[in-house]
Amino acid sequence: TLTPLVDRFGRAVTYLRVSVTDRCDFRCTYCMSEAMTFLPRKDLLTLEEIDRLASAFVARGVRKLRLTGGEPLVRRNIMWLIEALSRHLGNGLDELTLTTNGSQLEHHAEALAACGVKRINVSLDTLDAAKFRVLTRWGDFDKVLRGIDAADRAGLKIKINAVALRGCNEDEIAELLRWSHGRGFDLTLIETMPMGEIDADRTDQYLPLSLVRARLEQHFTLADIPFQSGGPARYTQVAETGGRLGFITPMTHNFCESCNRVRVTCTGTLFMCLGQEDAADLKQPMRASKSDAVLHAAIDEAIGRKPKGHDFIIDRTAAPSLSRHMSTTGG
Ligand code: GTP
Ligand code: 5AD
Ligand code: SF4
Repeated sequence: TLTPLVDRFGRAVTYLRVSVTDRCDFRCTYCMSEAMTFLPRKDLLTLEEIDRLASAFVARGVRKLRLTGGEPLVRRNIMWLIEALSRHLGNGLDELTLTTNGSQLEHHAEALAACGVKRINVSLDTLDAAKFRVLTRWGDFDKVLRGIDAADRAGLKIKINAVALRGCNEDEIAELLRWSHGRGFDLTLIETMPMGEIDADRTDQYLPLSLVRARLEQHFTLADIPFQSGGPARYTQVAETGGRLGFITPMTHNFCESCNRVRVTCTGTLFMCLGQEDAADLKQPMRASKSDAVLHAAIDEAIGRKPKGHDFIIDRTAAPSLSRHMSTTGG
């Protein structure tokens, strides 16, 4: 019989993040170097295998599935997978969602809503089209806006994710807040994490959210609220806008004690913590047998060694805490 996934610290794993591709059509400067290389297609799990893997986790009590990348919507036939996974909604699964850069959203918004996706997270770090182009290295801001508009029209709830970057968008955070809330979107701010080599120095980019919050509080009234989206953000309610503002603070105030999630990569590797190297291969156990027994045993073994937390540091003299990029696991 299948038992729920609980780690040795008593944390139940109810949230699976599935990276469906390591590829992205952007190269955000805090995420990748311009010369980033991607996995050969032959290394990827098939969509059928991703479905099988994610479904095995749903059978073990995962109630929230988030597809990530890279950029999930650049994976060919991705809507087939989303439709397949939607059979679990109301059947163990509470939420099927994705985190996207928005570039392909105008083509998929309607179909996502039709599959039972209720809400999506869109990464958008600036509202300045010229800055957007530099930050993403060639991204088309208007296309992303059209994607957001299409998602909005399709009835999807939208949360905007913005990584706070010193000297880049720090002067725009209040504007991002007014814009997001004006459109009825939640906004979450994220501290940059030292994952993988990039072309810049993270010390130059890093902006602690404690500082961002203090600056915002000169103009806005932020009240901490118990609202939980099921992810790592701590939320506030902004009196002036009536919207919700979340803070994701891995660097200044980690949230590992309440961690409820693990992630699988597009090659079938399970990472028990975003901020640790330790991983477990699930591809071989899955391919070993038509039955899922071997796979479930491998999942149990891996959850049994989920680490207590991450130990990211951003230091000018240190190499990135982790050699892999955020795009391997989709965050
Ligand atoms: P909600 O369901 O809306 O709460 O989304 P989420 O915050 O769980 O997902 P999203 O993909 O929007 O992630 C936002 C940021 O949180 C990304 O930068 C992720 O890398 C980061 N994040 C998510 N889970 C973890 C985690 O376990 N540890 C750390 N350090 N960061 C995480
Ligand atoms: N640190 C923090 N957030 C990052 N993201 C990508 N790379 C990093 C990083 N090094 C963000 C993206 C997206 C989310 C999944 O992770 O902007 O919103
Ligand atoms: Fe692509 Fe997201 Fe990384 Fe930007 S942050 S390069 S959109 S995966």
